[in-house]
Amino acid sequence: MEERKHLIQNPVAKILLCCQGLVLLHFISLLPLSSCQSFNYGEALSKSLLYFESQRSGHLPYHQRITWRHHSALTDGLDQGVDLVGGYYDAGDNMKFGLPMAFTITMLSWGVLQYGDQLAFAGEYHHALEAIKWGTDYFIKAHTHPNVLWAQVGDGDSDHYCWQRPEDMTTSRQAYKVDEENPGSEVAAETAAAMAAASMVFRKTNQRYSHLLLRHAEQLFEFGDKYRGKYDESIEVVKGYYQSVSGYKDELLWAALWLYRATDKEEYLNYGLENAQDFGGITWAIKEFSWDIKYAGVQIIASMLMEEEKHKQHKHMLEQYRSKAEYYLCACLNKNNGSNVERTPGGLLYIRQWNNMQYVSAATFLLTVYSDHLQAWNKGLRCDHGEVRSEEVFAFAKSQVDYILGDNPMAMSYLVGYGLRYPQRLHHRGASIASYRKNKGFIGCTQGYDYWFAQKGPNPNVLIGALVGGPDIKDEFRDDRANYRQTEACTYNTATLVGVLAKLHGLEGRDHGTSCF
Ligand SMILES: *[C@@H]1O[C@H](CO)[C@@H](O)[C@H](O)[C@H]1NC(C)=O
Repeated sequence: MEERKHLIQNPVAKILLCCQGLVLLHFISLLPLSSCQSFNYGEALSKSLLYFESQRSGHLPYHQRITWRHHSALTDGLDQGVDLVGGYYDAGDNMKFGLPMAFTITMLSWGVLQYGDQLAFAGEYHHALEAIKWGTDYFIKAHTHPNVLWAQVGDGDSDHYCWQRPEDMTTSRQAYKVDEENPGSEVAAETAAAMAAASMVFRKTNQRYSHLLLRHAEQLFEFGDKYRGKYDESIEVVKGYYQSVSGYKDELLWAALWLYRATDKEEYLNYGLENAQDFGGITWAIKEFSWDIKYAGVQIIASMLMEEEKHKQHKHMLEQYRSKAEYYLCACLNKNNGSNVERTPGGLLYIRQWNNMQYVSAATFLLTVYSDHLQAWNKGLRCDHGEVRSEEVFAFAKSQVDYILGDNPMAMSYLVGYGLRYPQRLHHRGASIASYRKNKGFIGCTQGYDYWFAQKGPNPNVLIGALVGGPDIKDEFRDDRANYRQTEACTYNTATLVGVLAKLHGLEGRDHGTSCF
């Protein structure tokens, strides 16, 4: 560990290490020998958390580390008499979308709950909490009444018509809400899940804040459950961007289980058990886990409850949850008899062309968490192809992270700013236009397209820690700003990676820096 640290800190040695890596990569395809490629997971972790600072909307704090960004969207909500300043821009646009933003915070929080020690060991615990709080502070503002949640700021169509830095946006900042007459159970329940998970994160360090989050979470869950309705029916403008395909039943189960974890109140567990059948919790077997479809997450949380003594009485129902959780995990591992997740020739999980990496990082997280669970209870994963040891489950998760960081046919790191080669032309308004700090002259809506979007060269600002949409089914990647399916990054892509990187870095410390497989 110490030796390796010195090597890494020495820039010449660093280059040597990287070159060795490249040479190894070159030979891997020729020689099927075991390889000892090592990645600096600690560095990747630090960078992944920096990404959330680049996506910040609102008034930036004095300790903002990403200095090419500046204050923006300081009047969000003003026209409608509500303070909606803050939160995160979703992706390469300047939109604030409540549902994926909440999912981002739920997953970041889960990562901290699971890998808090490893984050602290890496010196990143505080940054992770800041990334969560930037989201939850915003949700507190957006939840203006027990049954009112503001769930979007900005108009997707006008925003996408323009190529502007957030600092000089001229597009509509119309805000949209859900309420009793216009319900939105997905977004209410996901925000409840996010705030419940975050309340657990802050329990030790900020008790008052933790209580506040929990109160919002309980209210939001009640609102989402009592006034049921698809959020994209109430906020129709979201349909072109974050239409809910799976409906809200998965989010209601998900929120209930997170509230159960946060409060230990039986009523929430009972909700998850009583509605398991009707809401698809124990009937849907799905190979995708995402901002839209949370069933696999629900099933995994439910099945991890089973081992605890106090849940023995619910064994029958939890067992059914577990069988669906196993379906998802085994599908990722290619060990179901029936249907499995596709893979690229290079070994990357493949769900679909547009922003495939979101499914990879989300799967990687669930596999890692479940492998910990299996290890803790000394169990294996039951798949059609036989029992899979926890080590094997985790090794596969690690293979996905290693692919992301550069162990792939393009020898490209899809985590921006990490490694020697990473995408340079991200589909990202702020990153592709000169920094506001360097060039304060106003850049207009179409001027941005005509001059900055059209540039052939690399983006002027590096969006450190962004995880881009990534390669296609043949492992091919085209680094082109217009190729948004591959070069755009979303907040939830990176959110699910944070905890896994912390775990890998923690192991590295224990195993003296080698990661052979
Ligand atoms: C899966 O397929 C194998 C080989 O055909 C068979 O031996 C096994 O029983 C099957 N498992 C299940 C659970 O269907």
